[in-house]
Amino acid sequence: MSTRTIRVRVNGQEYEREVEPRLLLSDFLRHHLGLTGTHVGCEHGVCGACTVLLDGKPVRSCLLFAVQVDGHSVTTVEGLADGDRLHPVQEAFREHHALQCGFCTPGFVVTVAGYLAEHPLPESEEEIRELLSGNLCRCTGYQNIVAAVRDAASRMPEGGERK
Ligand code: FES
Ligand code: FES
Repeated sequence: MSTRTIRVRVNGQEYEREVEPRLLLSDFLRHHLGLTGTHVGCEHGVCGACTVLLDGKPVRSCLLFAVQVDGHSVTTVEGLADGDRLHPVQEAFREHHALQCGFCTPGFVVTVAGYLAEHPLPESEEEIRELLSGNLCRCTGYQNIVAAVRDAASRMPEGGERK
């Protein structure tokens, strides 16, 4: 199959790669860039494990082809921390024991980070649960995750940028 050249910024670094048009973004990140923090669960848009930020907005990387992000900016869970300094969402998840299994957690963290950047102050538990509804935890351990999102929101300054 013929390939195409894509240029994409991932976690602040520019990459240029030859890819087949059928290559999924999730596989591109994991297998071509070695960013294995993005997990692949259902592979059809249901579980949220593969969530990354595309130009700041949460998307399912299993539902996009790598060629679709040509010219865009992607952030994976590896790109949230600032060196040794965790993102406020990561801090809050750690402190509330919301870091459950390593499989679903990156998707939750990225989803929440992307959401809070645009909606720094969720109004209600209902809003938080709605936010989390696209990420599946097979253990149904959502309580600590909800608490972590509340706390993370209190750590996000106005404008959604990290403190
Ligand atoms: S692997 Fe993409 S949503 Fe489940
Ligand atoms: S903690 Fe990951 S699936 Fe439940």
